[in-house]
Amino acid sequence: MEHTEVMKPETLDDLIKILHAIFESDNVNVEEVQHVMESYESKPQEWKKYAKSDQYRYTRNLVDEGNGKFNLMILCWGEGHGSSIHDHTDSHCFMKLLQGQLKETLFEWPEHENNMVQKSQRILQENSVAYINDSMGLHRVENASHTDCAASLHLYSPPFENCQTFDQRTGHKNTVKMTFWSKYGERTPFAITSSQENN
Ligand code: SIN
Repeated sequence: MEHTEVMKPETLDDLIKILHAIFESDNVNVEEVQHVMESYESKPQEWKKYAKSDQYRYTRNLVDEGNGKFNLMILCWGEGHGSSIHDHTDSHCFMKLLQGQLKETLFEWPEHENNMVQKSQRILQENSVAYINDSMGLHRVENASHTDCAASLHLYSPPFENCQTFDQRTGHKNTVKMTFWSKYGERTPFAITSSQENN
């Protein structure tokens, strides 16, 4: 815990600097990353410039490329928006609630062509940080609210561009490309975004 004992991130920029320092090492200390992300108190004025949303589906907005060690992004979830059941391509996934609430449902990896087995479900509250990797199973994230949008800060290490999505009824899987709705606060040119995304 050497980086975080002394440093509590006061701003999003602080948090990014601390994450860069932590990820200089090749060993990811999951508790340390979770702790430092949790100790950042979300202030919308610091991240609003990245939080570009869409009426129809959740958006992925790149904030920082972490010197190639991680991708940090803000996901904006409109009312009722959700992801498909998906894996994390052998990466670590940290997810911090910046605003609102999100429902996370965990599933077992499917063994047969069958209904997928749900392991657990929880509501993630503002400023909390959830963690998952492939050894823990698969998940889906949803903004179940009919009135409020939500925003979350995701760190994936190592970064990845494709993941597998799963049909809840059959367990059938598909590889999909993950694209960014915006990068560093600028909308991604339309031609670059793919129609096959994780939602
Ligand atoms: C999620 O965890 O549901 C979001 C997946 C993504 O990065 O698009």
